[in-house]
Amino acid sequence: MPTRPPTKATRYEQVQAELKATPKVWLVTGVAGFIGSNLLETLLELDQYVVGLDNFSTGHKRNLDEVQTLVSQTQWSRFQFIKGDICNLEDCHCAMVFPKTLQKVNYVLHQAALGSVPRSIEDPITSNATNITGFLNMLVAARDARVTSFTYAASSSTYGDHPTLPKVEENIGKPLSPYAVTKYVNELYAQVFAKSYGFSTIGLRYFNVFGKRQDPNGAYAAVIPKWTAAMIHNEDVFINGDGETSRDFCFIENTVQLNILAATAPAEAKNEVYNVARGDRTNLNTLFDALQTALLGCGVTYTKAPVYRDFRAGDVLHSQADISKAQTKLGYTPMHHIYEGIDQAMPWYVRALS
Ligand SMILES: NC(=O)c1ccc[n+]([C@@H]2O[C@H](COP(=O)([O-])OP(=O)(O)OC[C@H]3O[C@@H](n4cnc5c(N)ncnc54)[C@H](O)[C@@H]3O)[C@@H](O)[C@H]2O)c1
Repeated sequence: MPTRPPTKATRYEQVQAELKATPKVWLVTGVAGFIGSNLLETLLELDQYVVGLDNFSTGHKRNLDEVQTLVSQTQWSRFQFIKGDICNLEDCHCAMVFPKTLQKVNYVLHQAALGSVPRSIEDPITSNATNITGFLNMLVAARDARVTSFTYAASSSTYGDHPTLPKVEENIGKPLSPYAVTKYVNELYAQVFAKSYGFSTIGLRYFNVFGKRQDPNGAYAAVIPKWTAAMIHNEDVFINGDGETSRDFCFIENTVQLNILAATAPAEAKNEVYNVARGDRTNLNTLFDALQTALLGCGVTYTKAPVYRDFRAGDVLHSQADISKAQTKLGYTPMHHIYEGIDQAMPWYVRALS
């Protein structure tokens, strides 16, 4: 019998194997948040050393506690947490070394920011301070520490009022909210740091990321955790607009993959921004049905109809990414469609919220 040729490993598989063989030191800012704590979990599973910086403004210690339960004791001992604020330059400098061993940080994954369009409309000054001044502090500290790579959370909000779908990195419109301004300014600073100091970065324009540990509480919760919590508690689910608004929902594991690929990318892939998404879109009515079905699979029955109300200021109607640049230049292989992601995330929400 002829043997089947082995399938070629993806770049992500290769990078994971290399990291396991030769562990690096990472700094994850916003480590107690949704995306940060998922990055931490994967990096520790890969036996990496991780410094985490967070001020717990929207993140939670319980996210770190949960990661501790998911990794081995040895892996957990490779994590050092610094409670600090990116608005304080000294805190950013301190975070550039692994405190226990004084090893220098190799890779920075900068996630700390105040998310949410409505939050930024209500309080643009605080969003500006964290997302712009804090970002600049992180750039300066990382440049001074001569880190190998600096990857930062950019945002699909940078596409603003540009009407074309799918969104291609090179074509952006005018920002529609203070939050969008802050994320665009991050990209501008990143470009200027490349020109002025030869300091390379990669910006990851996240489209609606979702998954376990995304906070369902508070006025600024994202749609998937917010609706999931409402369904679990048998409360009304509100749809802003007619439900035809669509988004490119991206499961957290795809986002983690792209952070690791970006951090370890070759020089020619740097000083660029990349869309982080699945490359398709789902409207809110379909999302409502998908969440209802997934919860039914977890034993939660929700029978209320959604309540429709006005569109929200600052929101774009449709969003969908072209992911070919990340596929070509970073070797991105998106693994999870929205439905697979929802199926993976729901048991966690049911456990956490019931
Ligand atoms: N979740 C998404 O769909 C999405 C989409 C686009 C962009 N982003 C960006 O991704 C990043 C992570 O978002 P998330 O969804 O995990 O949000 P999150 O609120 O769960 O995490 C952000 C973390 O940053 C921390 N933080 C905030 N201000 C800080 C400060 N001044 N100093 C130190 N730590 C601070 C918070 O305490 C929190 O733990 C953010 O930059 C956000 O703007 C997220």
